Amino acid sequence: MEERPAQPAARTVAIRAGSTTYPFTLASGQLDRAVTWREAAGSARTLAVITSRPVAALFPRILQATGTAGPRQLVIEVPDGEAAKTLDVVSRCYQALARARFTRSDLVIALGGGTVTDLAGFVASTWKRGTRLLHAPTTLLALVDASVGGKTGINLADGKNLVGTFHQPERVLADATVLPSLPARELRSGLAEVIKCGFIADPAILNFLPDRVRGPAQQSERYRRLIEMSVRAKAQLLADDVADRGTRRYLNYGHTAGQALETASGFSLRHGEAVALGMVFAARICELITAADGTVTDTRDVLYQVGLPTRLDTAVSFDHVWALMQQDKKVSPGRPSFVLSPRRGTAILVPMPQRRTAQQAFDEVLRPV
Ligand SMILES: NC(=O)c1ccc[n+]([C@@H]2O[C@H](COP(=O)([O-])OP(=O)(O)OC[C@H]3O[C@@H](n4cnc5c(N)ncnc54)[C@H](O)[C@@H]3O)[C@@H](O)[C@H]2O)c1
Repeated sequence: MEERPAQPAARTVAIRAGSTTYPFTLASGQLDRAVTWREAAGSARTLAVITSRPVAALFPRILQATGTAGPRQLVIEVPDGEAAKTLDVVSRCYQALARARFTRSDLVIALGGGTVTDLAGFVASTWKRGTRLLHAPTTLLALVDASVGGKTGINLADGKNLVGTFHQPERVLADATVLPSLPARELRSGLAEVIKCGFIADPAILNFLPDRVRGPAQQSERYRRLIEMSVRAKAQLLADDVADRGTRRYLNYGHTAGQALETASGFSLRHGEAVALGMVFAARICELITAADGTVTDTRDVLYQVGLPTRLDTAVSFDHVWALMQQDKKVSPGRPSFVLSPRRGTAILVPMPQRRTAQQAFDEVLRPV
């Protein structure tokens, strides 16, 4: 049965990052309306929509709305997925902006998943030393994570996200009605970041996860609330980090091993699947080095509930994963940098585990049976 009330009210979460605060506005159908874009455009004379062809094909009404909002529209189509996050694509975006005489008061709009928000954010942050940016995320992962916090990222042959900047959007326009077209695997990938927020910040999230059988069209109100809860949790950690309590680093929960597994799998694992496995790994590390008990079982139960993997099903060598973990860009010498969640809703930072402990955890909970 449809859970969504007839007209869910718009909800706004204020995202405070450094000296700026911007709104994350969650409202059904807002992206299809020209008035949304007219208001967002402000003094812009050109709206540059950066998007991929599949996303553009899925949402012609959004492009129509940005095209009729008033300012001139420039649509920059980029390759789909990780192929968008290259310096070559960045350069092609610059060329399109140059041809359009795009100024700093014009507006870059990222319409797509996390790859598009990462790319468009990087382009906006570097064009004329920083231009206006708005995120219109279309995947669950981008809604709950990539569109919030201002991180941008470009991949090099040597590794993922090796080039990047911090550049906050001036607003995020979030609309959960984009989700029903998302393939189930992409949806689950986004749920891993939602679950992460439950473990590190808001345990209520873990009692509110969607049913794995019904899709987002049948559970729209549940998804809307999960997006809001996750973004509120992330916003709180970002705001607390202003006081240099290091809480932003909690968001890396599951990512130290997760990103290494993603790369070591040759990207056959989706980002969220790798993060799910990274959380199982971190849970075992937690059991090995603290008195916590049952964290692996609890983590696996939650992941299983939404259909995320709880153990590797392909051969990935520990040596490769360990080597990649050493390169993790978030490792700052001398500072605790590995995130544990000893119980739901709580995170702590500890030093990177010793190789021996990491190997034991990998063998016990990740290695294919
Ligand atoms: N900057 C950050 O803070 C941050 C945080 C997390 C992840 N990321 C980055 O995000 C990227 C992953 O993002 P992603 O998982 O959204 O992947 P993605 O952008 O590649 O999108 C996944 C696929 O979904 C398709 N798609 C997008 N919206 C759709 C919709 N509504 N319906 C159907 N299909 C749709 C896309 O065409 C694409 O093929 C990674 O590069 C990761 O590094 C960044």
